[in-house]
Amino acid sequence: MDCLQAIKWERPRLAILNQLLLPHRREYVEITTCEQAHHAIASMQTRGAPAIAIVAALGLAAEVCGMAFAGDAEARAHIRQRLAYLQTSRPTAVNLFEAAGRLAAVVDAAESDVAAAYVAAAERMLEADVADNRAIGRWGSEYLGALAGDKVLTHCNTGALATAGHGTALGIVRDMWRAGQLARVFFTETRPYNQGARLTAFELACEAIPATLVCDSAVSALLRADPAVKAVVVGADRVAANGDTANKIGTYQLAIAARFHGRAFVVAAPSTSIDLALRDGAGITIEQRAPDEITAASGFTRASVDAAAAAGLVRETLQIAPAGTDAWNPSFDVTPAALITAIVTERGVYVKAPGADVFDLSVAPKLA
Ligand code: MRU
Repeated sequence: MDCLQAIKWERPRLAILNQLLLPHRREYVEITTCEQAHHAIASMQTRGAPAIAIVAALGLAAEVCGMAFAGDAEARAHIRQRLAYLQTSRPTAVNLFEAAGRLAAVVDAAESDVAAAYVAAAERMLEADVADNRAIGRWGSEYLGALAGDKVLTHCNTGALATAGHGTALGIVRDMWRAGQLARVFFTETRPYNQGARLTAFELACEAIPATLVCDSAVSALLRADPAVKAVVVGADRVAANGDTANKIGTYQLAIAARFHGRAFVVAAPSTSIDLALRDGAGITIEQRAPDEITAASGFTRASVDAAAAAGLVRETLQIAPAGTDAWNPSFDVTPAALITAIVTERGVYVKAPGADVFDLSVAPKLA
């Protein structure tokens, strides 16, 4: 859907929807350099694991299109150095590192016209992410459609805004709705940054999918009150080989609540979010974010409020906590595989072997 297109690429132009201004204003920011791409990712103008990787890849593509290299060796050296720089923008989502590794391999292997080979590979990533998300939507709606109940709960924003299009967990919600399998989706506000209240609400309203916003702290009460909420479905920033999953802070407690209430807990992610180099979730780096996301009411840092003000958008923070309050603000948590019922990828649906507590993501999915 056009109003939800987070990433616009028309060679050599890249524009991203500025998510700091949503849901109040739809404004695109043009990206022509890696510095701008890095800033867009670090400042959360763009966010969501797959979107971060693609904006980095295409940001460098835009830069490369505007350059004249003396030869392939120079192009290769430039691209490799810029890929290393882009990887310093955010630490948790593996998609960025996976994409950088694949793109570096492309330029290393290219025998001629390295810059053109790079741009074509970055463009293929954009197309592949949409195709992967559509496949996730099909697998996920088939899997979840078979469970009793006609409502689901989701967390954070995993839709078109977080990807190249369609979305992962929210892509499944979209497909369930279109297939007539869904009466209502509940979605969390996703404190402190409010990706749910701002972005998921915006996406669901765009498509008129019946949806209800809940506080993060209302989830257990919701699962107890409404047995028709058959599953919690979330995205992922990094999935270890055993299925331990890093995702937006609050995901872990949703999984505990789902287990207690006997509901399915489903992770939806492209295989670019799977990090087979990590045996389990203990090795995942968790991004720590600014304390003022928690200590003030809007969930925004002073810097993002200033950015909104500069764009002519009135957005005030309301200090809630007394000045100087210590705050711990991890942006992600790791849900142990033991609490996850299924992992939906574009290749199919991973479920655990009978009696197992972990997944084996190094093999083909069980349901494919
Ligand atoms: O900090 P964010 O907004 O980038 O975090 C996003 C999430 O945690 C998403 O759930 C995850 O990236 C999956 S997006 C398809």
